[in-house]
Amino acid sequence: MTSPNPDNAAIRDLEEAVSDAPTPLRPLDSGAATPAAAPTTGTGHTVTLKGVKSFYGDAMAVKGVDLEYRANEVTAMIGPSGCGKSTLLRSINRMHEEIPGARVEGEILLDGVDINAAGTDVVAIRRMIGMVFQRPNPFPTMSIRENVAAGLRFNKIKDVDHDERVEWALRGAGLWDEVKDRLDAPGVGLSGGQQQRLCIARTIAIKPDVILMDEPCSALDPIATLKVEELIQELKQEFTIVLVTHNMQQAARVGDRTAFMYLGDLVEAGPTDKIFTNPEDPRTEEYVSGKFS
Ligand SMILES: Nc1ncnc2c1ncn2[C@@H]1O[C@H](COP(=O)(O)OP(=O)(O)OP(=O)(O)O)[C@@H](O)[C@H]1O
Ligand SMILES: [Mg+2]
Repeated sequence: MTSPNPDNAAIRDLEEAVSDAPTPLRPLDSGAATPAAAPTTGTGHTVTLKGVKSFYGDAMAVKGVDLEYRANEVTAMIGPSGCGKSTLLRSINRMHEEIPGARVEGEILLDGVDINAAGTDVVAIRRMIGMVFQRPNPFPTMSIRENVAAGLRFNKIKDVDHDERVEWALRGAGLWDEVKDRLDAPGVGLSGGQQQRLCIARTIAIKPDVILMDEPCSALDPIATLKVEELIQELKQEFTIVLVTHNMQQAARVGDRTAFMYLGDLVEAGPTDKIFTNPEDPRTEEYVSGKFS
């Protein structure tokens, strides 16, 4: 489904600019707020939202969201078009602030550290909180191998063997067997579903803590969608995943927890089974049963 955004082209440019941006690897330089060493659960990382409000000028698109994205879980974000899902995601990796007049209030904590604290290194945040967009956007002039290694080069990650990491990321993205014999062919020569998995490989290659996915399957056919869904299930062993989707079946299949947004509010969040079978709020019930969209 397409957004009703007044400024869709600008958002697309922003997605490309952020994907393209050189992101030198620097430790979180957050002044008074030192990054917490220990993640809260398992090996993964938790993102906690406290009263998050996102504005475009005076218009509040996200109206005070409190939510925890748990480590090693997939949280599905659902809600009608225009309810603020993409705005919230872009707030979480600090892309939102790149839009003229846009700002965020409230706290967004990665393992307890406020990502918006004064002095925090934005590029480091984007390295730790990766994003996969609706439209696969491989770098057009780069080969498959170069696309996956791009983040390593931009971040000047030299202490790993790039070829090994490229293979690891492509295997992780479920694409290795399909491309291992043509790593030097252009990334844009792949099918749409393969390109999306290439973008996922590019995102995981730098081993972020959290992966934000904004309708990653909306441009894919059912088979490619299934592959990406299987991949998401595997990726949660290593990453915390936030998945925006308009596809209720996808949320039910892949989400450990589901959060329902409506008109900028988080209406409710909980275990996916509960949201789909026994939600607290009548608006959630109406939405998941297809009474409005
Ligand atoms: N660049 C922008 N400038 C001004 N308003 C915007 C901008 N982008 C989004 N909005 C507005 O913010 C609100 C939330 O939009 P957002 O794109 O976050 O919704 P969404 O839930 O992701 O929708 P969809 O499911 O269609 O992708 C909408 O009212 C939208 O028109
Ligand atoms: Mg959106």
